[in-house]
Amino acid sequence: MILLFYLVFYLFLAGMFVLTMYMLLLTLDDYKPTWQDRLVTPGMMIRPKGDQLEISFSVSETESWDGLVQNLNTFLSPYNDSYQVQTNDNCPPDQYFIQEDSGEVRNNPKRSCQFNRTMLEDCSGMLDRFYGYSSGQPCVLIKLNRVIGMLPGKDAQSPFVSCGAKYEDSDKIGALAYFPPNGSFNLMYYPYYGKKAQVNYTQPLVAVKFLNVSLNTDVNVECKINSNTLSVGSERDKFAGRVSFKLRVNSK
Ligand SMILES: *[C@@H]1O[C@H](CO)[C@@H](O)[C@H](O)[C@H]1NC(C)=O
Ligand SMILES: *[C@@H]1O[C@H](CO)[C@@H](O)[C@H](O)[C@H]1NC(C)=O
Ligand SMILES: *[C@@H]1O[C@H](CO)[C@@H](O)[C@H](O)[C@H]1NC(C)=O
Ligand SMILES: *[C@@H]1O[C@H](CO)[C@@H](O)[C@H](O)[C@H]1NC(C)=O
Ligand SMILES: *[C@@H]1O[C@H](CO)[C@@H](O)[C@H](O)[C@H]1NC(C)=O
Repeated sequence: MILLFYLVFYLFLAGMFVLTMYMLLLTLDDYKPTWQDRLVTPGMMIRPKGDQLEISFSVSETESWDGLVQNLNTFLSPYNDSYQVQTNDNCPPDQYFIQEDSGEVRNNPKRSCQFNRTMLEDCSGMLDRFYGYSSGQPCVLIKLNRVIGMLPGKDAQSPFVSCGAKYEDSDKIGALAYFPPNGSFNLMYYPYYGKKAQVNYTQPLVAVKFLNVSLNTDVNVECKINSNTLSVGSERDKFAGRVSFKLRVNSK
């Protein structure tokens, strides 16, 4: 008798557990994280990327930059124009590519906009297959970390990247060139809906080319985002909207 009681009791408990889990799972949305932090300015990252945020090589030693070039080749492979044309749309620029769901009806999968490798011009690896490393004018790619739903600009103004020297290095950094022009992340690549909804999403990039960096010395570089909706972090959050790295180009 007491055995039967426990059997029924435990079955009841197990049943309650399964029911609760089921209800919880029902409320989770596959396509959107349920608990998302409030929108903050995302961090930025560079390519090529090693263990540290440091790019150091000798112009005359091919082996010293060959790995960096390979790293960029691999990273940029999905940006090939031919691949972008197959997978993504040619979107109207300077405006958000909004693809909201209408009520319960999901507007999935969602399309993404083309970011052609050739838009990186001198830093695309197409015109100069060594990205400037063989001539002491290296390219560094910058990306803004993905945040679902982020709107990085208003009034049709795309955010843009600017780089400068930190500490006393301002006389060593030399002239910079940005690609695409103005170093902007066009608004058409936003908002991002998550990798499940937007399967072919291609993250926009900005390339910075160091045209006349001083040789044989460390140069501390900082790049940051300029936007009319995102603010660059203060000392308290020093990774928000910026990235710092050390660049050293040796002549031999
Ligand atoms: C992109 O182009 C490069 C060089 O032309 C090639 O090596 C690479 O395989 C291509 N990648 C894709 C995904 O088509
Ligand atoms: C990307 O390149 C393809 C092929 O050259 C071209 O048809 C397309 O318009 C380009 N897209 C953008 C956004 O520039
Ligand atoms: C993703 O790209 C593939 C080709 O690689 C294409 O067939 C598919 O339609 C694309 N999906 C979306 C949602 O853009
Ligand atoms: C670059 O910025 C200037 C001034 O802010 C603007 O007039 C120009 O249209 C921009 N160019 C591109 C390609 O966005
Ligand atoms: C390159 O930088 C050096 C100083 O490091 C400067 O003397 C020279 O004029 C610069 N060249 C150009 C073309 O700006």
